[in-house]
Amino acid sequence: MAEFTRVCDVGEVPDPGKTLVDVDGEMVALFHVDGAWHAIDDVCTHDGGPLADGELRNHTISCPRHGAKFDVRTGAALTMPAVRPTRAHETKVEDGGVWVRLRSAPGTDGPAAHALPAAPTTSLPAAQPTLPGAQPAADAPTAEPGAAAGQPLCEDAVREILKEVKDPELFVNIVDLGLIYGVTIGESADVPGKRHVSVDMTMTSPACPAGPQLIADTKRAIGQRTDVAAVEVRIVMDPPWSPDRMTDAARDQLGIF
Ligand code: FES
Repeated sequence: MAEFTRVCDVGEVPDPGKTLVDVDGEMVALFHVDGAWHAIDDVCTHDGGPLADGELRNHTISCPRHGAKFDVRTGAALTMPAVRPTRAHETKVEDGGVWVRLRSAPGTDGPAAHALPAAPTTSLPAAQPTLPGAQPAADAPTAEPGAAAGQPLCEDAVREILKEVKDPELFVNIVDLGLIYGVTIGESADVPGKRHVSVDMTMTSPACPAGPQLIADTKRAIGQRTDVAAVEVRIVMDPPWSPDRMTDAARDQLGIF
């Protein structure tokens, strides 16, 4: 088990307050709240944001990059876009100083590890980031995709197709995440007898790093239909996405109750 390391004097950090400390070569965010000390990794589990730079309110720290919130006492992820906890470490006050002992993983007491748990790999095929806009579907395979095979093209069929598109970080499909705001189906102006599909999609945050992949995967999934000539994805940030847009199925998958 790792040893405690003295990281600062008690008087160095106001209450409430926070600072960044080095513990055995690892950067740890240290918090002083209501007379107690808490320490968590200075790493947001969404995309590596520096938590010590975030805003502290009571026992909640907000990631400065995309706004995910964490409980400084436990490291628990409280809001999207983070869903995994960050490591919380042991603290103690002794001889006028604050001491921290590294834990190996969220909620465990084992020897210190030097990396966060690896994210599971995604089953999505690699996608090339593309800008929003129409995408010809001339090279699409002839089979209709997945559960929508054989269905006439309608909004429900498109939403069913889009359940095959998963957020590469959350591993939940974009329909159950509540990212699809609208679907419009019209006649193609370029290919007689075929359809032009427009999808209004939002992101969990304005700077969502998964955005280009979600757009490309959406176009590819719908474009596989033989009766679709083009797919357009419009990114809509108003109204902003919020966790209450998720279905119960998505909440179950993410362990949010
Ligand atoms: S890196 Fe922290 S919310 Fe995205």
